[in-house]
Amino acid sequence: MIGPTARFKTYASTPSSRASKARGSGRPAAGRAAPSTAVIPTPMPSRAFRFIELIYLLCRGLRATRVAEFATSVGMSTLYFAAAIRDNGGGTVIGSEIVPAKVETAKRNLAEAGLADYAEIREGDARKTLRDLGGPVDFVLIDGWPGESGPSLAREVIGIVAPQLRVGGYVMNDNAEPDYLDFIRDPKNGFVSMTLPLKGGTELSLKLR
Ligand SMILES: C[S@@+](CC[C@H](N)C(=O)[O-])C[C@H]1O[C@@H](n2cnc3c(N)ncnc32)[C@H](O)[C@@H]1O
Repeated sequence: MIGPTARFKTYASTPSSRASKARGSGRPAAGRAAPSTAVIPTPMPSRAFRFIELIYLLCRGLRATRVAEFATSVGMSTLYFAAAIRDNGGGTVIGSEIVPAKVETAKRNLAEAGLADYAEIREGDARKTLRDLGGPVDFVLIDGWPGESGPSLAREVIGIVAPQLRVGGYVMNDNAEPDYLDFIRDPKNGFVSMTLPLKGGTELSLKLR
């Protein structure tokens, strides 16, 4: 098994479990199908789980010790980042979440999985809380909600975190916001990028310079 510990699996085994309920917490259906049951089921029942497994695999391959995510919600992706960091020997995932109740749930989920030592969840608007990551990061997840108008949050956040991503690091985006894609696919911004056949448009980009 990859990802968070087998212990975490135990409290996610019913549709009414905390993690399962929280995973589908109000997000519009467009971006991701909410899983109906376990957190680490075998075999994986939905493409959403393959997405967070991929996070784990890429972070292990990078030997990642510092990563950042926009956003955390209740901590599903955070758990996989934290597990990879633990398995790489230690470090921190810096999460961001604007809804205080979600921050509390994410912290509880991390604690119950034994991964709290590998995560720092910053409460507030990611456009502020991710401005200073305290040094280069190996991986960034851009998984917020698409905005209604104006520049997308994804586009704003990538502008803030791209300079803090190390060369050779990855950024993954989940919602295919058009202005985000314009940025990340423009060669002058230093990334090489591809769309993965996951969830209808997960964009994975490697920082070249
Ligand atoms: C799709 S969810 C994140 C899911 C998470 N990455 C995972 O895989 O478990 C998007 C989250 O972005 C949060 N959010 C929206 N706008 C935000 C902002 N400006 N700053 C921080 N978080 C924000 C929402 O509250 C929501 O929990």
